[in-house]
Amino acid sequence: MTSPRAPLPLPAFPAAFLWGVSTSAHQIEGAADEDGRGPSTWDAFAAEPGRIRDGSTAAVATGHYHRYREDVALLKELGVGAYRFSVAWPRVLPDGSGPVNAAGLGFYDRLVDELCAAGIRAVPTLYHWDTPLPLETGGGWLSRETAYLFADYVDTVAARLGDRVEQWITLNEPAELTLLGYGLGEHAPGRRLLFDALPAAHHQLLGHGLAVAALRARGARSVGIANSHGPVRPASDSAADTGAAELYDLLTNWLFADPLLLGRYPDEGLAAALPGPVDEDLETIAAPLDFYGVNYYQPTLVGAPVPGEGDGGFAGVGLPAGLPFAPREIPGQPRTGFGWAVVPEGLRELLHGLRERYGERLPPIVITENGCAYEDRVADDRRVDYLDAHLRELHRAMTEGADVRGYFVWSLLDNFEWAEGYTQRFGLVHVDYDTLERTPKDSYRWFREELRAQRAQRAARP
Ligand code: FCB
Repeated sequence: MTSPRAPLPLPAFPAAFLWGVSTSAHQIEGAADEDGRGPSTWDAFAAEPGRIRDGSTAAVATGHYHRYREDVALLKELGVGAYRFSVAWPRVLPDGSGPVNAAGLGFYDRLVDELCAAGIRAVPTLYHWDTPLPLETGGGWLSRETAYLFADYVDTVAARLGDRVEQWITLNEPAELTLLGYGLGEHAPGRRLLFDALPAAHHQLLGHGLAVAALRARGARSVGIANSHGPVRPASDSAADTGAAELYDLLTNWLFADPLLLGRYPDEGLAAALPGPVDEDLETIAAPLDFYGVNYYQPTLVGAPVPGEGDGGFAGVGLPAGLPFAPREIPGQPRTGFGWAVVPEGLRELLHGLRERYGERLPPIVITENGCAYEDRVADDRRVDYLDAHLRELHRAMTEGADVRGYFVWSLLDNFEWAEGYTQRFGLVHVDYDTLERTPKDSYRWFREELRAQRAQRAARP
């Protein structure tokens, strides 16, 4: 069988390479009020007028909570070896702490069983931005207590699923939650604290470190985190622009990676301003990882702010005046439907950048997210081209020495894209939001054929 588009087959990846797709609980599950699930920060945020572009909420989303069997069947037919999903903290512990909601935990138990029966490795992310609302009232990630409560919740989940789950991801993109959620107020919990958001970064990292210990105590074999990374390029070689780009690079790339991989913050002044016994916390935060998850979407061009000039914002979000940097649109690049620049070579560049910065201390990498939003209903050639180009750059980086063990497409299904609501479709599978009907797109068929070809190449090897 040929692929619908038949670009050249991808080069052969290593036999043990893990192919997967990613989703997150809040973006697909729906069933927001069912079976004892508690409210989350995203429920509250979306209920505020003007927060979500199309005025929607994730109360129904793709209905995955009720259709998970159908979705696992789609995964099986696709031929992936792994599925990255997230566990909703408010479904397991409606108050964030205290009594466990047996029905909520039972859902993930059934999902993992279904995946096991399909021969697909379950890779749960324990936190993908949906904080139980009662915890936010107490300060959310601005409060140190949240890190300890997170570890308790992780222990509860690991106790239940740990007999069948071998690979875990603690947090998804603490950088975005810090910047967009606490710094700029564009995501839940909608705080606009600018640099006063930084304690949320430290407490998430501490929560990660405590969670690693909890998972190991429950016998977890493979533990990692999913951090966003993208090359940052200065808008010019002027001192003002390179300085602004360096600061942006520090805040988006290294503020979260250095503590994990080097056991220190990238800037002493910044570390001194953080709460807690920071040095002691860093020992917890830097617990060795089995893999380092990288979410890659696009590089960012950054300059010094120019008064009166528009900017490209952070991840499509306009930045308030007064910040010491201004992301700009990268000229001359194709763009996804979301307006994000399509720069496949940025993936290779960032992988080499991580190797240079961390050397021996860099664990094997897994690409935990990469993908694109386009409106195309089923004939989504542009998604095929996007994925094909990124996978070729990834393969090239690997032949040049990058140790990458897996690649997960974002996303299996069209879903609730945070502040964009349902306006950005990232799925390999189209979702009709009126009927919840799933229709595989051409990119789904293309990926399925590429995965078949990878298996055939593997079988043919001596
Ligand atoms: C990442 C998020 C993921 C999804 C993609 C498009 O930042 O981790 O949930 O929204 O962007």
